[in-house]
Amino acid sequence: MAEDKWKTAITEIKKGEIRVRGYDIVELMQRLSFSDAVFLILKGELPKREESEMMRAILVSGIDHGATPPSVLSTRNVLSGGNSLNAAVAGGILTIGDVHGGAIERCARILQNWARRPEEVSSIAKELVSEFIYKRRRIPGFGHRLHETDPRTIKLFQMATELNFSGRHMELSKAVEAELSAALGKRLPINVDGAIAAVTSDMGFDWRMGKGFFLFSRVAGLVAHAFEEMVRERPMRRLGNWNFEYDGPESRKLPDGPK
Ligand SMILES: CC(C)(COP(=O)(O)OP(=O)(O)OC[C@H]1O[C@@H](n2cnc3c(N)ncnc32)[C@H](O)[C@@H]1OP(=O)(O)O)[C@@H](O)C(=O)NCCC(=O)NCCS
Repeated sequence: MAEDKWKTAITEIKKGEIRVRGYDIVELMQRLSFSDAVFLILKGELPKREESEMMRAILVSGIDHGATPPSVLSTRNVLSGGNSLNAAVAGGILTIGDVHGGAIERCARILQNWARRPEEVSSIAKELVSEFIYKRRRIPGFGHRLHETDPRTIKLFQMATELNFSGRHMELSKAVEAELSAALGKRLPINVDGAIAAVTSDMGFDWRMGKGFFLFSRVAGLVAHAFEEMVRERPMRRLGNWNFEYDGPESRKLPDGPK
């Protein structure tokens, strides 16, 4: 009897040939952007134009948020202790949890579960917020240490509306934002994690992929921080989220070109 084999439907490899979801990698290298390739490997099909634009914006939105997030401090601390780039980036990734980056997954799960209910989103939001407040739990995807309005959320929601992805999950997240702010008497904006959770839910992604969207994007930023730490700083230095200063390029505009 032939031995049972486990199955994978992602990439087929033969001598001199690599096919991702059936497509030749050489052709993909020539014609797909990185974000299109991410969409293909996750969904199994090429993105339509609207999906391609949305995915590109999602992956760019999380690429970096300065020197203060736990993942950046951890990456730099691990490198500062005398470790390699991959160990430093892995150290950064280990900080990604329920409150940092991981909020995408938890928020998407909540939105996907609650949006299934038949009621109007406004009454679903009311019940959802009162349940969390009653249990003294924070709702993932809302609130920010710095931004009163997260510019990434505004752009992602604007694009989602233009590209016809704004659906029940986005509506529900906006209703939760309004309810939460009213209940707490202070504005708790939908942050970028919440926006990615809402938009990817409206794009049909399973909430269990949530953390992945943050990882694809933020690993690029963590590699940049690890390398900067390596080439600019002394080993085992005092490293905090208060004693730093930005000295990169002044604010500038992209050169004119296709939007
Ligand atoms: C992002 C976050 C850590 C910022 O925390 P913070 O700077 O302490 O937030 P604030 O100072 O604005 O919090 C003020 C109050 O609002 C409450 N609050 C903050 N975010 C809340 C949320 N998402 N749901 C419910 N209540 C929340 C806090 O409990 C706090 O109340 P307290 O003073 O009685 O403890 C916090 O909003 C949070 O945990 N959000 C959920 C996780 C998340 O989305 N993370 C991704 C961040 S990009």
